[in-house]
Amino acid sequence: MLEVENLDAFYGQIHVLHGVSLSIKAGDIVGLVGANAAGKSTLMYSLAGLRTTCAGKIRLKNEAIEDMPTHERVRRGLVLVPERRRLFPFMTVLENLQIGAYSDGARALAHQTMREVFELLPTLSERRTQLAGSLSGGEQQMVAIGRALMAKPQVLLLDEPTEGLAPIYVKLLFELITSLRALGITVLIVEQNIHHVLQTADRAYVLENGRIVLEGSGRALLNDERLKVAYLGL
Ligand SMILES: Nc1ncnc2c1ncn2[C@@H]1O[C@H](COP(=O)(O)OP(=O)(O)OP(=O)(O)O)[C@@H](O)[C@H]1O
Ligand SMILES: [Mg+2]
Repeated sequence: MLEVENLDAFYGQIHVLHGVSLSIKAGDIVGLVGANAAGKSTLMYSLAGLRTTCAGKIRLKNEAIEDMPTHERVRRGLVLVPERRRLFPFMTVLENLQIGAYSDGARALAHQTMREVFELLPTLSERRTQLAGSLSGGEQQMVAIGRALMAKPQVLLLDEPTEGLAPIYVKLLFELITSLRALGITVLIVEQNIHHVLQTADRAYVLENGRIVLEGSGRALLNDERLKVAYLGL
């Protein structure tokens, strides 16, 4: 579904990712873990075609997308839920969701998709006329995911969706991710909560100083001593 080959990423002169390669199968939940500043968000932005300058190959369903602008990647089904959610706080929940269906194909289906999103996330339906900025952190994360779902993603990139959330929402979020798999959506998730993510993920990658240093099944990594070394930077 998504193949990354030898990806380097830069902010101006600053070289952050070094030869990152990933291979993500359709329908898998794949975790991406690593210490602060390892380059996890940079990798997510690079896949989405935002912020960074990149070299290397990115293929979505065997099509090269590395030279495409973000909106073309979204149109093909690669959608990012960015770090810290980036909602429009002074717009309602409904308006935030509608913005997600920006591309032509998604807009034509927006009515039906909105119904599906409300089925999956009933709280959003109850709060549809409320300003997004007035919701709790957990509810705002649900809006951010709902907005991404409005774009009809085939691959959803989630960057630290549980950051700052109460345990009840962390649990809900992982349940939601499992439901996304049932809908056939492939998920790449950056997560500090390594225990939760490795238990849920089919496979995971460990990023250290901009390089992939470990990969394997979620459960195997959970028991791998090297993960602690990479993660804690010991
Ligand atoms: N816009 C930018 N300009 C320059 N350097 C940046 C920029 N954004 C990130 N960096 C640098 O790139 C490196 C990787 O940052 P990144 O945000 O990808 O890390 P991360 O793994 O997501 O960390 P965290 O767990 O804290 O979210 C860091 O050293 C950071 O300072
Ligand atoms: Mg980050």
